[in-house]
Amino acid sequence: MRTQVGIIGAGPSGLLLSQLLHLQGIDSVVLERRTPGYVLGRIRAGVLEQGMVDLLNAAQAGERMNKEGLVHDGFEICFGDRRHRIDLKELTGGDTVMVYGQTEVTKDLMDAREALGGLVIYEAENVDIVDLDGETPKLTYRKDGVDHEIVCDYIAGCDGYHGISRRHIPENILKIHERVYPFGWLGVLSETRPASDELIYVNHWRGFALCSMRSTTRSRYYIQCAFDEDLEEWTDDRFWDELRARLPNSVAENMEIGPSIEKSIAPLRSFVAEPMRHGRLFLAGDAAHIVPPTGAKGLNLAASDIHYLSSALIGYYKQQRTDLMDGYSEKCLNRVWKAERFSWWMTTIMHRFPDQNSFDRGIQLAELDYLCGSQSAQASFAENYVGLPY
Ligand code: FAD
Ligand code: DHB
Repeated sequence: MRTQVGIIGAGPSGLLLSQLLHLQGIDSVVLERRTPGYVLGRIRAGVLEQGMVDLLNAAQAGERMNKEGLVHDGFEICFGDRRHRIDLKELTGGDTVMVYGQTEVTKDLMDAREALGGLVIYEAENVDIVDLDGETPKLTYRKDGVDHEIVCDYIAGCDGYHGISRRHIPENILKIHERVYPFGWLGVLSETRPASDELIYVNHWRGFALCSMRSTTRSRYYIQCAFDEDLEEWTDDRFWDELRARLPNSVAENMEIGPSIEKSIAPLRSFVAEPMRHGRLFLAGDAAHIVPPTGAKGLNLAASDIHYLSSALIGYYKQQRTDLMDGYSEKCLNRVWKAERFSWWMTTIMHRFPDQNSFDRGIQLAELDYLCGSQSAQASFAENYVGLPY
């Protein structure tokens, strides 16, 4: 088989790229090692920046999001006995975020690909890249016991943190920057009314908590936990008790609780791999960078990478331009590092660190007090939260 762009991974990055290219008449094939059901079963991000909303609309995959997504003008930050609202719309001169789950985004992209007859090959085993140094790199894989090869012009590594693409950048070229945090997030999804109309981020001495949502009838909650926590030990009752112990009384007393429909633990990590391009291979999304989830930047960064990558490939195929491909890594990393900084900072001010002493706690409370008392600090916070421009 031959294609113009071979894409590894049918997460949001790979599907969105394939769809944007298709709409410009550029051919691609997506290889995914899992089943569609498995991909959709992963409960992940929930907050979309306007840039990502615009990109999904440009990809003709935004119809359901525009109907069912919840536009949020602000959110709350709690610490000690204080509750403070960050008014995103007011602070940014009109910007908001969209609450719409990654599962729904992925489903809409899968449907959009299918509607246009896009080729997405699921359960592709042993995906590998060969001849990356030549003019025509190839993707090889095994499906139903048969080996296949796809000859490509370019390859997009959209295969997430555990994918194989990144490994094809030679060790003497690839630079890794990493920070692992000494805690994780225990997340629960439940068919219950959200605790509040807006998201609530809580810094509590027992640990961080977040009240989020997926719709007006479905809630998503997170609590900070140990990084090696045993999920089996977290019964629903224990989760609700611990969550409520960290929330302001006024929220905890009135919130609806119910059985969990998903429960999982995510480790927290900051990670950047550079460069994001090597010859004919381009990395995008989690394949190149990870942020801790605080501030909801992971999925949104994947979207901005795809904006740059699709523009670069479209520039090449439509106008024989190579400058956008040449500038891809630098353009992406410029935005990536700013989102890394924001996610690291928000993680640092909102969590309880195991080795935190009274000085560290004093600094944390001063950060929060300054933030809630200063319009300029809030404006900077809001500017980053709604997403820096592409
Ligand atoms: P992925 O979604 O990881 O997609 C990569 C795809 O490649 C997968 O489908 C995978 O199966 C496939 N793949 C991997 N290896 C191969 C291979 N060898 N061959 C073929 N296919 C392969 N972000 C937020 O903003 N907020 C959150 O609350 C949040 N929670 C998260 C919780 C967890 C547990 C994780 C892991 C991430 C979370 N994120 C969150 C981050 C966000 O989900 C990611 O940034 C986003 O999924 C990135 O999309 P992607 O398409 O780049 O990668
Ligand atoms: C969600 C996750 C986040 O990390 C965040 O900052 C906000 C919302 C969520 O999954 O709903």
